[in-house]
Amino acid sequence: MPKPKVLATHALFPAAQEILNAHCDVEYWTNPERISRDELLRRVKDKDGLVCLLTEKIDQGLLSAAPKLRIASNVAVGFDNIDVAACTHRSVVATNTPGVLDETTADFAWTLLMAVARRLVEGEELARGGNWKGWDLDQLVGTDVFGKTLGIVGFGRIGKAMARRALGFHMRVLYADAVRAPESVERELRAEHKDLSDLLAQSDFVSVHVPLLPETRGLFDAQRLSKMKPTAFLINTSRGPVVDEAALVQALEAKKIAGAALDVFEKEPAIHPGLKRPNVVLAPHIASASIETRTKMACMAAQNVVALFTGQQPPNMLNPEVFKPS
Ligand code: DGY
Repeated sequence: MPKPKVLATHALFPAAQEILNAHCDVEYWTNPERISRDELLRRVKDKDGLVCLLTEKIDQGLLSAAPKLRIASNVAVGFDNIDVAACTHRSVVATNTPGVLDETTADFAWTLLMAVARRLVEGEELARGGNWKGWDLDQLVGTDVFGKTLGIVGFGRIGKAMARRALGFHMRVLYADAVRAPESVERELRAEHKDLSDLLAQSDFVSVHVPLLPETRGLFDAQRLSKMKPTAFLINTSRGPVVDEAALVQALEAKKIAGAALDVFEKEPAIHPGLKRPNVVLAPHIASASIETRTKMACMAAQNVVALFTGQQPPNMLNPEVFKPS
């Protein structure tokens, strides 16, 4: 029996290659330039499976170009790049990589929070730039984190991991989520459920952990940003379009909030020029980028593909109704 043909739009990591290569005939895109849409459509034509990145749109156009495709396996937990309904309609399995990146992403959201509160990037520039004249009493004075109030918007796995870290900083933790956490979780994490308006009005740091959905697109608009304290900071490691960047720039310019720290942007890799200011820390979508976690994500994506082609249900199906045991 010939092995199923798979396209991986990245070289992945050796551990993931090993998993895939054992069961599939894999074509890896190894060019340092990312794969273009045209090239992707050309190469996916004869493939049974696809391992893709969040920068690739898995939509009607791609599905039409890939008549044999049975699985699109995203190397990411977020799957706003995949038209799951279109995949389901075509009986193409869609999968993602939940769970393995929660702690790493929370670590990085904290990295951003600390960096913006304590003006680390400005300090680094001063230290490295050769203009530092020595210690001074009011030099780069930032804001304390210890004992402040952290507002977590979206209390899923990553939001909870964020809250767990706040215990060590003796913070008051508020969270907003459509689903209230069990009392035992609230007690363990010392987290209080609030509606979003109250959370915004009371938090010193607001950290965003919601998926990109029609109802979360533009969630942080001018009106919601204006509810935050003028001394508060916004941290976003979820998806860029959850924050209206033009409104954020206006809020920063008008000093309606104190600063922001962002790992994700509305139109990546473009960044609104108004965000390039000292009280904004910018990172290039790297919250899950530790070697351990990215390797786990790639392996999980590979395992989803192998499961399907060995007759098992892929563990991380976004459309389980499509699976038919062979
Ligand atoms: C994801 O997985 O959705 C992140 O944005 C990349 O780790």
